[in-house]
Amino acid sequence: MSKRVFATYLILFFFFGWMFSCYKPENETNISSSKEDESHKKGENCMNCHYREGPGEGWFSVAGSVYGNYTNASVNILDAESYDLIKRIEIDELGNLYTTENIDFQNGIRVEIINENGQVTNVMSTVVYTGQCNLCHDGQFENLIEIF
Ligand code: HEC
Ligand code: HEC
Repeated sequence: MSKRVFATYLILFFFFGWMFSCYKPENETNISSSKEDESHKKGENCMNCHYREGPGEGWFSVAGSVYGNYTNASVNILDAESYDLIKRIEIDELGNLYTTENIDFQNGIRVEIINENGQVTNVMSTVVYTGQCNLCHDGQFENLIEIF
C-alpha cells in the first residue's frame, strides 16, 4: 500500500468515525393520554422495545401498566429527595402509561397514583432509579399495580 493510499484510508477512517460519533437519532414524542387507546402489550416491559434505537415508536423514560379502576387516573413521578412533582402522566384507556419526556432519575423517584377525583390512592415509598414499572411489577417479582 502506498503512503498516499494509506493516508486516504486513515482520513476516511477518522471522518466516518467522527460522523457516527456525532450521529444521535431524534426521539419521537409518544405520551399517554386518558383519552387514547393506541398502546399495546399490557403488562410487558415496554422498554424491552421502546429504548434508544429499539424497534418501538419512541424511547420511553417512564412506562408501565396499571389494573383495576384506572379510568381518568394518572401517575405522579416525584423527586425522591425533594418530593417535587417531576411529571404527571395520564393512564390511557388500556391501563398503560408512558412518556418519552426527559426525566431526571439522579435522586431517585417515588410514585403516587391519582384517581379521577384527584385523590392519591396508591403510593410507592420505595425509591427507584428507573421508569420501567413493569420490570418489577410483573405479578411475580412484585405485585401488579392495581387501583381499587
Ligand atoms: C415487543 C416489542 C414491544 C413492546 C414490549 C412494546 N412495544 Fe410499543 N411498539 C412496538 C413497535 C414495533 C411499535 C411501532 C409499530 C406499531 O405501532 O406496532 C410500537 C408502538 C407503540 C405505540 C405507538 C402506536 C401508535 O400507533 O401511535 C405506543 C403508544 C406504544 N408502542 C406503547 C407501548 C407500551 C405502553 C408498552 C408497554 C406496556 C409497549 N409499547 C411495549 C414494540 C413494542
Ligand atoms: C426496581 C423495582 C421497581 C420499579 C422499577 C417500580 N416499582 Fe413500584 N414498587 C416496587 C416495590 C418493591 C414496591 C413495594 C413496596 C412499596 O410499596 O414501596 C412497589 C410498590 C408500588 C406501589 C404501591 C403498591 C401498590 O401496588 O399500589 C405502586 C403504586 C407502584 N409501586 C407503582 C409503580 C410505578 C407506576 C412504577 C413505574 C413508574 C414503579 N412502581 C416502578 C418496586 C418497583
